[in-house]
Amino acid sequence: MNKNNTLHWNGNTLEMLDQRALPSRIAYIAYDSAASVADGIQRMVVRGAPAIGCAAAYGVALEALRLRHLPRDAFLAGLAQAIAILAASRPTAVNLFWALERMRAALGTLHASPVAQIADALLAEARAITAEDVRLNRAMGTHGATLLCDGMRVLTHCNAGALATAGHGTALGVIRSAVEAGKRIHIYADETRPFLQGARLTAWELMQDNIPVTLIADNAAGLLMRQGEIDAVIVGADRVAANGDVANKIGTYSVAVLARRHGLPFYVAAPLSTIDANTASGDAIPIEERAAAEVTGYGDTRWAPAGVAVRNPVFDVTPAELVTALITERGVVFAPDFEKIRLLLAN
Ligand code: MRU
Repeated sequence: MNKNNTLHWNGNTLEMLDQRALPSRIAYIAYDSAASVADGIQRMVVRGAPAIGCAAAYGVALEALRLRHLPRDAFLAGLAQAIAILAASRPTAVNLFWALERMRAALGTLHASPVAQIADALLAEARAITAEDVRLNRAMGTHGATLLCDGMRVLTHCNAGALATAGHGTALGVIRSAVEAGKRIHIYADETRPFLQGARLTAWELMQDNIPVTLIADNAAGLLMRQGEIDAVIVGADRVAANGDVANKIGTYSVAVLARRHGLPFYVAAPLSTIDANTASGDAIPIEERAAAEVTGYGDTRWAPAGVAVRNPVFDVTPAELVTALITERGVVFAPDFEKIRLLLAN
């Protein structure tokens, strides 16, 4: 197994790095069915849009392997149910639905094949989706690195790194590629309340790679920008609408507004699988709301008074007009809008 891979196929089970335990503990949990993978996605064992997509693809493959002894009709009905269960695990990251669609399409071409052959082919497709994700992240990194200059201080929000993907990362992939190209980049990582993906995951991931990182409270970003201590912002995305609006971790919109106020570039790194041409604008992107307990405390620790009313929307939408450029595996799209995104997808 590579160093701290998000996902690892282990012969007949999927092992997922338990991201809830990081950075205190590196622990893998084994999954052997679609329902268990859906549960792992819902509980944030695995998180980050591309990683969720890869996990869901493996979830379909696991179910196919589990049901391969059944007659064809029961096997196909079981797979349809598995896809539905996985699709219900989280609503915002479109990579989940994109990956399930790829698995459904692979299944469609195999309907007439023996059940065992279908199961093998679905596993091959899940592996292909995962391997492809790393290749696309590297391509995005190469394109995005051209936007970063030696010595830049870059703010990121949430975790859009190797942990959020099958490897290398989207936003952090761009950073990694810039560093590999010899540029000295200093990262400011927003802690990213309420689930602390920045403090727990981004800080840890960058420290593992010896990339200089300074952790800040989310509310410190404005001050640092005002003091001239940040040169650019780069984030990932969970869904990009057809008009270029970007859904990403809650707090991203505030950072984008601050970046505009201070004349800083605001970059979004996302593969084409994160672009949802069927969603016209950010207004139509479903925003997940999670449990109040994520806001009132973390793990076993509570800091808010018992019974307090809580809202916990975990994503927000940054309007396209605040996005300086969208970095994809096909290149960089400055000031993304409906027409530029249509052309990008058509190429
Ligand atoms: O709730 P999460 O941790 O799944 O949210 C993750 C994010 O918002 C990431 O920024 C996004 O998925 C981009 S990941 C390359």
